[in-house]
This record gives sequence, C-alpha cells and structure tokens, in this order.
Amino acid sequence: MTSEQSTADYIRLLDPAVRPDPYPLFARLRERGPFRIGTAPVVVVTGHADCTAVLRDPRVSVDRSLAKLQLGFMPIYDATKTTAEQVKPSFLFLDPPDHTRLRRLVSKAFTPRVVQRLEPRITEIVDDILDKYSAAGTFDAVTDFAYPLPVTVICELLGVPLEDEAQLSHWSSLLSRTLDPTSRQAPESRADPAELERAGTELSVYFERLTERRRADPGPDLLSQLIAAEDAGDMLTHDELISTCALLLVAGHETTVNLIANATLALLRRPAELAALRANPERAQGVVEETLRFDSPVQLMPRIAADDLTVGGISVDRGDLVVMLIAAAHRDPAVFPDPDRFDPARDNRHLAFGLGAHFCLGAPLARLEARVALTRFAQRVEVPRLTTDPPVYREHVNLRGPAHMPVEFAAVL
Ligand code: HEM
Repeated sequence: MTSEQSTADYIRLLDPAVRPDPYPLFARLRERGPFRIGTAPVVVVTGHADCTAVLRDPRVSVDRSLAKLQLGFMPIYDATKTTAEQVKPSFLFLDPPDHTRLRRLVSKAFTPRVVQRLEPRITEIVDDILDKYSAAGTFDAVTDFAYPLPVTVICELLGVPLEDEAQLSHWSSLLSRTLDPTSRQAPESRADPAELERAGTELSVYFERLTERRRADPGPDLLSQLIAAEDAGDMLTHDELISTCALLLVAGHETTVNLIANATLALLRRPAELAALRANPERAQGVVEETLRFDSPVQLMPRIAADDLTVGGISVDRGDLVVMLIAAAHRDPAVFPDPDRFDPARDNRHLAFGLGAHFCLGAPLARLEARVALTRFAQRVEVPRLTTDPPVYREHVNLRGPAHMPVEFAAVL
C-alpha cells in the first residue's frame, strides 16, 4: 500500500501543475521511505542518508547500458556508428578506469584556484548583460539575465567563437533533456527523439570542425589543450574529445541558468534577504548554497545497480535503476533543521552537485557565476519586483527552474 501511494505520488511529480511547488509531494515521498515502482526495475530513494549511501556505494554504476530498463532519450552507444553519427557517452556515464582518465584531463581547468581567476571576466559579462536593460524598466530574469551568462563563459573557456554561441545554446537546451530520467514519461516534455538525435549529431559535427580549426591554429582554450593531449598519445581518443566537449557544454549550461534563476526568485520573494545581500556581498555565498539545497537545479539523480544490494531495507537487483530524489533529501529534517525555511546561514550538506567520483566538476565555476550574478543583481537592479508569482516553470522534472520570470524595476544602476 505504501509503495502504491508512493508510486502514485512519484507519477504526480510529472504533472505540470505540481511544478511551482513540488516540495509537499517530495516530503510525503521521503516520509514513506524508499520504494519500488510497482514491479518495474526501478527503486526510488528519498532520504539524505539513503541517497548518500547510494552515491558512495561502489556497487552502483553510471553506465546506462547496464540498466534493464532504458532511460529517457539517451541512446545506447552503438560502436558500429561513427562519431559524426552519434555522441559517444561522456565520462558522466562511464565508470573507472575510463572515467578516472578522462576526468583527470579536464579537472585542472576547473579547480577553485583556476576558476577564481575568471571572476573579473564573469563580472564584466554580467555587467554587460545588465547594461542592456538600463533604459528598459523590465526584463525577463531567466532569458535576459540568467540564461546568457553560463553559455558565454563555457564557450569562452572551450574556445567556441562568439558568433556560434546561439547555436550551441540551442543544442545544449535540447540535449539537456537526455539528463532527465523521467523525460520519457513526462508528456509535455516529450521531445521528438529524432530531433534530439539530430541535435547530438550536429553538435558532434560542430566540434569535429572546430577541432580541425584549433589543431591548425591552437589557442589558450581548453579545446586546444585537449587536442594537445589527444596528439600526445593515448590519453584520450578523438571520440572522447568530442563527447567531453559536449558534456562540458550541456552539463554546465541549463543547470547554472537554473541556479541563478532559482536564487533570484528566492531573493525577490524575500526583500529583506535581497537588501542584506546588497549591503553585504559576502552573503552571496550562503544564498547560493542555500538555493542549491532549497530549490535544487538538479532534483534527482539516476544510478544503475551493478550488483544486488539493499537500500533503506529495500532489495535492489542487479540492473535496477536507482533514482535518488535529491530534492526530497534536501528537505530531510534529520539533516536540515526546519528544512522548509530558506536560511543562507545554515550548515549546508546538500547533494546538489552529487557526491563521490562523479561530484560535479564544474561546481567551483557554477558557484562563482551564481555568486557574481546575484551580487551584481542586488547592487545594480533598483527596487526589482516579480510581476508573476509563481513564475512559469520549464518542462523538466529533473532540471528545475522557471522558464520565464518577468521583473519590473525602477532602474539599473
Ligand atoms: C556532474 C550538478 C554546473 C560540469 C554533475 C553532477 C551533478 C551536477 C549533480 C553529478 C551527476 C551524477 O553523479 O550523476 C550541477 C549543477 C550545476 C552544475 C547543479 C550548476 C548549478 C556545472 C558546470 C560544469 C559542470 C558549470 C562545467 C562547465 C560537470 C561535469 C560533470 C558534472 C563535467 C561530470 C563529472 C563526472 O562524471 O565525473 N553536475 N552541475 N557542471 N558536472 Fe555539473
């Protein structure tokens, strides 16, 4: 019975009407504990301790080809096809040793120390974005403000020419659906699989061509560094280079947009918090961390059991999909006292960037972008006001954030 109720609640998460506030549903799911969806090879894990245990368990894998049930729109890699026909699974979907080797190659570019050097440039990009609206009196805090920053930053890091950004942004937005294990079920987010496949192909062809250009004319960018690594020996193959570029673009784009948008929403709903941030930019870090917990850009994470195991008293069979409801774990009162309160000062052991071997490589960059964006928003946008609350949400169940958020303001300083 409990499992039936939980299954019904889990399916209700797909309902767009729930999107503005899914948290009461997540709370009910967490209170009842982990459950199997009917007789399907899918186990859902809801509490902080159970999610943490799964993320740390060496018997769980990210390799989707091990799953009895195929997920979302992510096609299984077909070794007979060429790179131009498909994007090879990136290291997000690989276990060691391939994961370790590929992650190590790019990790140097994303350490907190290296990323910190980008702060002046990120500030400049945010200020350029805000400058455009100095005369407007209104903008869309998602499409006009949160959206352009992450794609500009990652394109500059990778060495993608400015004029191609809009195209890359389009592919990234489509392909981000493949990160959503519920995308197959959610009726309103059912993108045409052929369209997604085409986007994957076009993106890989794009990076193929850019790679050729950078090989002939290397720059200081990450792509040129990866090409040098490819050329230097067997550290990464050409296919891996292409899929790594695609991963960096897709993994860091929508997620960071949603972090900035969700945090902006939290501040607009709490004018005292916004005023405090304006007076003291050091508060931004706490606001970012609390947004990652309170309204997590990634709401759930999938794994595949590579062996039989037990989670929170539920048996998981080899090949079962294990879905961790991070958004439910983030409101677990056993770890977060008064969990429904937005409190930037709290001790924050959120799982928004994952945990363990696949911990988000871009976390320092996402944190920095969000911190700068929020600080400049608080300092420069005078008397901002949401015109629609709740805003209209994106169709994703997993990647959570508003699609649009019109804001009126007195001026942009
Ligand atoms: C992995 C979240 C921004 C690159 C992950 C994972 C999560 C996550 C939860 C782990 C997935 C798993 O274990 O299955 C986020 C959030 C972001 C963000 C919430 C923004 C707020 C970025 C950025 C980049 C990035 C800006 C890079 C430009 C990656 C990569 C991985 C990853 C490469 C794969 C790591 C691995 O498999 O070893 N991210 N991410 N992310 N993220 Fe992020």
